[in-house]
Amino acid sequence: MRSPIIVALDLPTAAAALDLARRVAPYVGAFKVGKELFVSEGPDLVRQLRKTGASVFLDLKFHDIPNTVAKAVAAAVRLDVQMLTVHCSGGSAMMKAAETAAQETAASLGRTAPLVLGVTVLTSMDTAALTELGGETDITRQVERLARLAASSGLRGLVCSPLEITLLRSVLPPSIQLVTPGIRTGAEKSDDQKRTLGPAEAMAAGASWLVVGRPIYAATDPVEAARKIHAFVQDPH
Ligand code: C5P
Repeated sequence: MRSPIIVALDLPTAAAALDLARRVAPYVGAFKVGKELFVSEGPDLVRQLRKTGASVFLDLKFHDIPNTVAKAVAAAVRLDVQMLTVHCSGGSAMMKAAETAAQETAASLGRTAPLVLGVTVLTSMDTAALTELGGETDITRQVERLARLAASSGLRGLVCSPLEITLLRSVLPPSIQLVTPGIRTGAEKSDDQKRTLGPAEAMAAGASWLVVGRPIYAATDPVEAARKIHAFVQDPH
């Protein structure tokens, strides 16, 4: 069975990212490349990661007009990533264009389409921040609304906080994959994450994938940290 653990490579250089990826690979289902690493090291880092046999989650959170997002998604498929993110607030036309580009580009290359994940409300936003934007001011209602819109636009997955898993599982089709950051084992400090769950609890609540950053890459022994989290997920008891 594939590991549901996605390690966030929130590291400044390709060398550091590749070194960590090689060491923790046996416990990991995919590696997440975010804005800092992608902007500094570019597509070549993704190619090097793919050469190690790892799956790559390109977390660039696209949000633009549908045509531009479709082209960016097509480029990500050509780069051979397995997961990528778009902002649901880009609207249904943008999400449909992203999913269609993923499917069509993958089909033309004879590849499996990557999982296009919708990001609902950023967990850094609180009620005051949402109110500033106008429209819905209740975070939970807005998360649910955008999640339903993502599913009806054809997206097959969403990023959500650990505390949104139960709600989203109750309103979305069961086939929707939920990818959850904010995972803490209790062995480390919670850093800036305010809403966290343990790995086994998040899986039990219905997460499909767990994004784990600092609890692995900032651990004194990242390989042992990854092994322990993997063991928690495989056998919570
Ligand atoms: O170090 P930590 O485990 O908190 O890393 C979590 C990762 O998930 C980071 O890359 C962070 O940017 C990302 N993330 C998050 N919360 C979200 C969306 C993404 O922590 N709502």
